[in-house]
Amino acid sequence: MAFPQRFLDELVDRSDIVDVVSSYVSLSKKGGNYFGLCPFHNEKTGSFSVAPDKQIYYCFGCHHGGGVIQFVMEIENLDFPNAVRFLAKRANMEVPEDNTGLEESRRRQRVLAVNRDAARWFYSNLSRPEGAAVAAYLERRKISRKTAMNFGLGASLDQWDALLNAMLEKGYTKADLLAAGLVVSNQKGRIYDKFRNRLMFPVIDVKGDVVAFGGRVLDKSEPKYMNTTETIVYSKRRNLYGINLAKKTKRPNFILCEGNIDVITLHQAGFDNAVASMGTALTTEQTKILSRYTKELVLCFDNDNAGQLATQKNIELLKDSEFNVRILQLPRRLADGEYVKQDVDDFIKFQGAVAFEAILNGSANQMDYRMEAVASKYDLSDPEQKIAYGGEVSALIASLSNAVEREVYAGRAAETAGISRTAMLTEVERARRKKGSQERRTLQRENLNAAALRQPRDRTIRYTDLRSAMAEEGVVCLLLLDGALADKCRDLPAEAFSSPFLGKLFALLTEAWSEGRTMTAASLSAHCTPEEMSHLSAILQRPESLANAERALEDYIQVILRSAEKRQGERPGDPLLAAVEKYKQKKGNGGKQS
Ligand code: CTP
Ligand code: MN
Repeated sequence: MAFPQRFLDELVDRSDIVDVVSSYVSLSKKGGNYFGLCPFHNEKTGSFSVAPDKQIYYCFGCHHGGGVIQFVMEIENLDFPNAVRFLAKRANMEVPEDNTGLEESRRRQRVLAVNRDAARWFYSNLSRPEGAAVAAYLERRKISRKTAMNFGLGASLDQWDALLNAMLEKGYTKADLLAAGLVVSNQKGRIYDKFRNRLMFPVIDVKGDVVAFGGRVLDKSEPKYMNTTETIVYSKRRNLYGINLAKKTKRPNFILCEGNIDVITLHQAGFDNAVASMGTALTTEQTKILSRYTKELVLCFDNDNAGQLATQKNIELLKDSEFNVRILQLPRRLADGEYVKQDVDDFIKFQGAVAFEAILNGSANQMDYRMEAVASKYDLSDPEQKIAYGGEVSALIASLSNAVEREVYAGRAAETAGISRTAMLTEVERARRKKGSQERRTLQRENLNAAALRQPRDRTIRYTDLRSAMAEEGVVCLLLLDGALADKCRDLPAEAFSSPFLGKLFALLTEAWSEGRTMTAASLSAHCTPEEMSHLSAILQRPESLANAERALEDYIQVILRSAEKRQGERPGDPLLAAVEKYKQKKGNGGKQS
């Protein structure tokens, strides 16, 4: 895209940078320059400067800088040509669109048109016999026809060229369809429909244009989703599924979830503030879009390892943003005696919208409220009171079981007090250890004594040390839920297990983890006799949850080591006793992990 240089020069002349910046940032004059709070990063003292003589801006904090066009590109999230058009409108200048620009804009319009018509055609298939399988799938997923219409869901057909023919008939060319990514060509140059026999999700941007499609299979085959690859109208990094609807929400925040289906289920249940980043970690481009509509994000990712990882990544990205971030932890669900993971879709289906509303407004909000209550008790400009505030607020944050949440709230408390994040986090972890040792005894009594009262009837293998065996079962269950917990078991030798069978499982699980594998109950079964297998299935009925996993694990390890110690009696020099000793010393050191 080439604008004539003369035009650009005039545009820059007519767009005074102080004027332009002032409509986004409140500036004050110091010497020859202007200063304000940087709009590109989060700060409390202004390190963002504008130099009227040079017509440039520069931030001493985040090192963003440039001329007036650059500024508009950054702040409005526009590419160069569109930033130029934006400024031209503001300066009341006519844009000399050259032919290449016109040509490109024509091609974009065509792709958007074919996308729109394709979406209409997919939708119309839901009411035709050829689309019956998809319509039935929607019913199975409890997605109503009204919701389908809201999202423009549709059906691609189980044929190689149904869409191709329908669109050719409407007057589009093969080139249009290729440019839209709706058809692909094989090595021989034959063209066929990219999406076949799938539930179709149009991706609609903030302007309401259909920019891309996702398509989900109706069964368990792979790939589960197919998505439009990048086109002249679509970039995955710059779009969020559901944003076209969520931008109109009256709710105070946005829910960021993982999947298309999650978004749809949430909207259907009345949470019209849900969007999804479509299977990838959030990008800065996406946060810029979100920041136009909300200041608060609620992250609601799947309850599995991948989901937790995505949450971590997103937190990392959002750490320095202006967003208020909350994490919504979905509880596991009891199904057939087993606690299973669930995503938002499952949760809404099984627990309902009211329950979701409760967690949405629940604990985390209370946390905000409680933190504010603590802060209001102290005069934070007074150093001593600041320390007292740190002590009280860290104890409050220490009560959260989720490490990511603790980090988020510790960051917020640090900001309130005007101290470093690290210092606050250290304080929180210290409070946690203190709390841990106070509660450990009670917890132990509650968790273990009750269980140890009688030999469980469903266990095939008899236990010799019931109290220890119950804790050993706990460790095995937790490791099966989350292999990474093996890292916390480094001080627990398999020899300390009273049950040889449970000791064997423990050794297998920790060994697998150290080799970078994770094991499931199914993969353990390869190492078990049928009798052991039925024993294992009985163990897996235990209601372990990851919510308090680390604390529970610590308790179990203590019980196992203490029991081992008791069983061993006094046998000086025993390697096992030495391990127990080492563990106890560490605990005495304030539980520092080596
Ligand atoms: N995704 C993708 N390609 C895949 C799998 C997933 O692009 N092969 C994206 C999709 O946008 C999907 C999201 O990642 O919506 C989350 O994946 P998943 O949780 O597996 O899908 P759901 O939409 O939740 O579908 P379902 O509830 O039917 O499992
Ligand atoms: Mn899912």
